[in-house]
Amino acid sequence: MSYSKFESHMKKIADVGFAMAVLSWDQETYMPEKGADFRAQQLSTLSGVYHKLFTEDELGKLLSDLSADASLNEQQKKNISLTLESYQKQKKFTTEFVELMSKTVSECFQAWQSAKEKNDFSVYQPKLEKLVELKKQECELLGYEGHPYNAQLNEYEKGTTTADIEKLFEEVRKELVPFVKKIKEAQQVDDALFYRDYPKDKQWDFGIELLKQMGFDFTSGRQDISSHPFTTSFNPYDVRVTTRVNEKDLSEMIWSCIHEGGHGLYEQGLPAGQYGLPCGEAVSLGIHESQSRLWENNVGRSMAYWKKNFNLAKKYFPEQLQQDTAEGFYKAMNKVEPSLIRTSADELTYHFHIMIRFEIEKALFENKLKVSDLPAYWNAKYKEYLGIDVPTDTKGVLQDIHWSHGSFGYFPTYSIGSFYAAQFFDQAKKEIPGLVQQIENGDLHSLLNWLRERIHRHGRFYTASELCEKITGEKLNFSHFMNYAREKYSAIYGLK
Ligand code: CO
Repeated sequence: MSYSKFESHMKKIADVGFAMAVLSWDQETYMPEKGADFRAQQLSTLSGVYHKLFTEDELGKLLSDLSADASLNEQQKKNISLTLESYQKQKKFTTEFVELMSKTVSECFQAWQSAKEKNDFSVYQPKLEKLVELKKQECELLGYEGHPYNAQLNEYEKGTTTADIEKLFEEVRKELVPFVKKIKEAQQVDDALFYRDYPKDKQWDFGIELLKQMGFDFTSGRQDISSHPFTTSFNPYDVRVTTRVNEKDLSEMIWSCIHEGGHGLYEQGLPAGQYGLPCGEAVSLGIHESQSRLWENNVGRSMAYWKKNFNLAKKYFPEQLQQDTAEGFYKAMNKVEPSLIRTSADELTYHFHIMIRFEIEKALFENKLKVSDLPAYWNAKYKEYLGIDVPTDTKGVLQDIHWSHGSFGYFPTYSIGSFYAAQFFDQAKKEIPGLVQQIENGDLHSLLNWLRERIHRHGRFYTASELCEKITGEKLNFSHFMNYAREKYSAIYGLK
């Protein structure tokens, strides 16, 4: 009886949470500019309602009773223990703090948009300063062991510490940095074919076809346009992905679609019967990103995937790609070159972008770096790690949305996700006979089914590292990514 009472309370909380998600999705896709202030107010009010529902004493009582209930099954027990954890966390914040955070985030997001548009960091700076101060307070409220940044990391990748990320980037420095250096010294790849004129409508249709081929269900989701592609979900039957279309760069749309499509498939694969409960939620951002990266890189940037799909590309762009081959298309999409913008970086130098953001965030939370010094610090790091000059803040420190959302500790999950992806894909190849052949034929069903079975359907029943061990027999291991990178790029660049 009391478990069903718990379930219905959680569903109510989820209803509020997902209503907020609808408002946020709209804020980034269709909301007119002048709607911003009232929207911020609406989101702030709802975040207060959400927090109140989550911190009701009655829920606390229910959770402590159910924690001692031996008649529950394993999934129910997991739902109780994970909710109790969230409950205790929510209890650390006052409703005033939660509302203030929500309002500050909305203001900061608006300021970031306008600063990016005007290439003027000073528009953003005071709002970001306010937000960073709040985030530091949040660390103290949440509590942490060791580095204060651990409190932020824990929000996105539970159990992962600053030291873990440092160790991972140590391997990146040791293995990936010299490998990229070797690539730079080799004969370079020409990717000019992506920068011809590709009309918007055709690109859109092509993207939809790729999503359908992956198995994205358009009766349980849709795609729209936003300046920063993202995925959000209101339940497994209503999953929203967004993309961007640049008529002068076909690659932006293709790999945004596939990437967000990978996130979307994960959301559509979560068990709807667990709506509002932890076992109906994604494990962590790192695991979420492993799903998008696996589709984007391990599948979507492979020769196998384009063996057939290049003809599809030619169907949409017969003139633009008239002279090109699948092989040339494959090489072009895998050109490795240090660049300014993280989201359009190749899959190797990508991790240098993340390293920079990680170091910046760490320094901010150690009080070693002030918000006002961010642009100069950013530019210096890009020179140091990528060897490039940053021409404008719009193409530098203002490029990403994350900090304006108060998402600190989020970026490292992108690298973690890529490394998980390589490890999972290795396992999928072992377990699915003829997988590469199937991909060559444009048949992606068994791969999706494998991901559904191994990852999606479990929700948060396993932690990220438990799940990884269960699937692959070992913990996250960077060498899967590095071996994948070595094999693929040595062939493309003719390295021995
Ligand atoms: Co992603």
